Amino acid sequence: MIIAVDGPTASGKGTIAKALAAHFGLPVLDTGLLYRAVGYQTQLDHGDPDNSADALAACDFPDDLLEDPALRYESTGSLASRVSVHPAVRAALLRRQVDFANQPGGAVLDGRDIGTVIAPHADAKLFVTASAEERARRRHAEMVGRGVDISFDAVLADVHARDARDTGRAEAPLMRAPDAKLLDNTDMDRDAALAAAIAFVEERRKGRG
Ligand code: DC
Repeated sequence: MIIAVDGPTASGKGTIAKALAAHFGLPVLDTGLLYRAVGYQTQLDHGDPDNSADALAACDFPDDLLEDPALRYESTGSLASRVSVHPAVRAALLRRQVDFANQPGGAVLDGRDIGTVIAPHADAKLFVTASAEERARRRHAEMVGRGVDISFDAVLADVHARDARDTGRAEAPLMRAPDAKLLDNTDMDRDAALAAAIAFVEERRKGRG
């Protein structure tokens, strides 16, 4: 069974993907991490993330970079969003994601274009979202909890900028696949969102017989 989980930044899609993988006993791939690695490697190489050739060269990042805690930084998320607009970068990362999705037994993948480009044949597709204000509120609380000194308005501005870039790019923009279940968790707590996601996938699985 292939499960596609897409959605904007800070929507909780990663948490939902991990919970689904644990519940259904499937491997999970956070595809955003691949784009984060390319963005970060571009910076390590002193390249320009807005330059397609520089970003493409960084697609050869070493595998152990995926373990680097710096990939989780907010600033790396912005770099990832910038390199992800280049069609050459998306093409370079495509095979790895498609192979992961199509492995025997299935998989869970989360990202922006899983249900539309990477695994349009997925058995269950979820589009996870929440209002920009709520996503910024959660991210701000999480950052302040880590000791980062940043204002709510700065986080909200970043959320808006990421949304605009991820939905506005020409190649594989963030969008809900027509057959994806919309899971807007603005007014839901974590447990309610996880329960709704699991119930939806269970239903899909039964439907497959
Ligand atoms: O999910 P994330 O915040 O780690 O993703 C970082 C950036 O990577 C996101 O802003 C856009 C890009 N991305 C993408 O273009 N396609 C994906 N499947 C996953 C992430």
